[in-house]
Amino acid sequence: MLPLRQFVPSVQQFVVGHRGSSGTAPENTLASVRQGLESGADMIELDVQLTADHEIIVFHDVVLGRTTDGKGRVQAASLSAIQSLDAGSWFSEEYHGEIVPSLRQAIELIRGKAYLNIEIKPPQQDEDYHIRLEKILECIFDTQMEQFTLFGSFHHGALAHLKRQYPILHTAAINVPNDKRLPSEIASEIGCEGFICSIRELTRKRSEDALQNNIYLGVYTVNSSEDLEFALSRKAKAIATNYPGRICGYLKHKYYPI
Ligand code: G3P
Ligand code: MG
Repeated sequence: MLPLRQFVPSVQQFVVGHRGSSGTAPENTLASVRQGLESGADMIELDVQLTADHEIIVFHDVVLGRTTDGKGRVQAASLSAIQSLDAGSWFSEEYHGEIVPSLRQAIELIRGKAYLNIEIKPPQQDEDYHIRLEKILECIFDTQMEQFTLFGSFHHGALAHLKRQYPILHTAAINVPNDKRLPSEIASEIGCEGFICSIRELTRKRSEDALQNNIYLGVYTVNSSEDLEFALSRKAKAIATNYPGRICGYLKHKYYPI
């Protein structure tokens, strides 16, 4: 596999499985990662959070209730307590017993098969954010994923911090809703390679600015052929979808040639 730095300029677009294949399996679980890989996604996007005992887990929310049978804040629970929860049944009984994976467990599946996109969620009140960032970095370097991982965040300070420490890391700022700045203005503050926004935010102005300034565009969440057509017309390169199988199929059959 090419390092991300070489892969990105070598392709017109690539497919990112958003929270794995979260349209067909419970988000951010190993089942979702497996389905994302099997469907041919080039990259798997996973959200990460910190547990009370400073472990990095693959989890979207700050509270446990929406996607597990647990309750309370993620940061108040230990890894073992969180891993005793059922993270699958809320989606479908078929996935009863799916666990909340640690980042390491997810990387074991992904390494060598696809790129990883870690979304670093913003800090919570009273959190020492440096601990979370250090633990994420420790995991990525321990597993030799540093050249195969895209770090994304709405919290641009986190990305700037990573880049200051390790300029080789590949980063993409996620547009904060209602932030009117252009990709180049945001990138000049962070030094990020990419800029990610929602479909609604993918304006012609943002698209042209990113292209002119050699910043690649990522867009979420592209689940239909119409959305894909729109994203490609605005020159988005990283296409994040809850249905990577569907979107890979559209692209493979060249319904939307560039
Ligand atoms: O990386 C883009 C996207 O994942 C951001 O939003 O809430 O799905 O994590 P969310
Ligand atoms: Mg995310």
